Amino acid sequence: MFGLIDKLEKEECLEREEWITLLSAYGDEKLRDYAAQKARTVAQGVFGTDIYVRGLIEFSNYCKNDCYYCGIRRSNLGADRYRLSMEDILACCEEGWVLGFRTFVLQGGEDGFYRDEWYEELIREIKRKYPACAITLSVGERTTETYRRWYEAGADRYLLRHETADDAHYRTMHPEEMSPVHRKECLYALKEIGYQVGCGFMVGSPGQGSEQLAQDMEFIHELKPHMVGIGPFVPAAGTPFAKETQGSLELTLFMLSLLRLQEKRVLLPATTALGTIHPLGREMGIQAGANVVMPNLSPVPVRKKYALYDHKICTGEEAAECRGCLNRRMESIGYRIVTDRGDSPYCCERP
Ligand code: 5AD
Ligand code: FES
Repeated sequence: MFGLIDKLEKEECLEREEWITLLSAYGDEKLRDYAAQKARTVAQGVFGTDIYVRGLIEFSNYCKNDCYYCGIRRSNLGADRYRLSMEDILACCEEGWVLGFRTFVLQGGEDGFYRDEWYEELIREIKRKYPACAITLSVGERTTETYRRWYEAGADRYLLRHETADDAHYRTMHPEEMSPVHRKECLYALKEIGYQVGCGFMVGSPGQGSEQLAQDMEFIHELKPHMVGIGPFVPAAGTPFAKETQGSLELTLFMLSLLRLQEKRVLLPATTALGTIHPLGREMGIQAGANVVMPNLSPVPVRKKYALYDHKICTGEEAAECRGCLNRRMESIGYRIVTDRGDSPYCCERP
């Protein structure tokens, strides 16, 4: 089994059967430690002990989609909906800039309220005020034309988790109107336009097994994204999956290590969901091979409302508190958050 980890490190891919063997063995603590140690060494070889930071601005929790796992799905009548104005968002950016954030992630549900032109204006305005910042969009599936307009307006990166690479599994987590094929097409289109692209998936989503995770690893090998966002599935009230079991901490950490070994220079966040299922989850994520943290810059009054899942952390803190908290947390394990755009090292070779 340890040989498979050595092989992954060396060849940067495994056969389907090898993946299934390796992933099914995640219960073995020695194996996980072996992978984590190697992954940490690889990450430090690329990024040293620098940790990149992104300021997350959750600007709307209205969504036209109805994913079975997500707390802001349109059918969740218990969700307390909100929208931020352009002014609100710019105020978050100002606060973030002062705190040393050089990447702003604009994330929201697929909310038809904002026009394409509104996004363009917002992107241009942020870039005008903070020319040295990077803008990441995370607003779901759109047309290639729209993606192109936003890129031309100055957006640099796009996060769109593929959620699962297994199409049959995808259909068990989404209503019929959502297409796994279209979602993957969006990722290829974004890359083609020139965005630094992030895909990703939840670990431990209902119906997921080694077979699905193997497909995720293979899809990522093929797409060659600049970033991969993964976190444990956490049940959300008001969703069909509310009573399902939460994803495993150990398996999430193991997946982070395997991702690092397969995609050596990829940007890999230790996510809020990971910090939600364990008080030291994000620290453990870094120690398993992650190199990015994404604290919240959203205004405190709306933070609780952006509830993709239950018990989300950091919903009461001011941006400055969050930043200070993460600084201390990273320093406690020998890392340091840097004031930098934190572009992908693949930026030039994965156009
Ligand atoms: N648990 C964990 N992650 C979730 N997401 C959505 N709902 C949940 C949940 N219940 C993730 C999805 C989405 C990202 C923004 O949040 O992967 O792409
Ligand atoms: Fe938000 Fe610790 S990161 S309070």
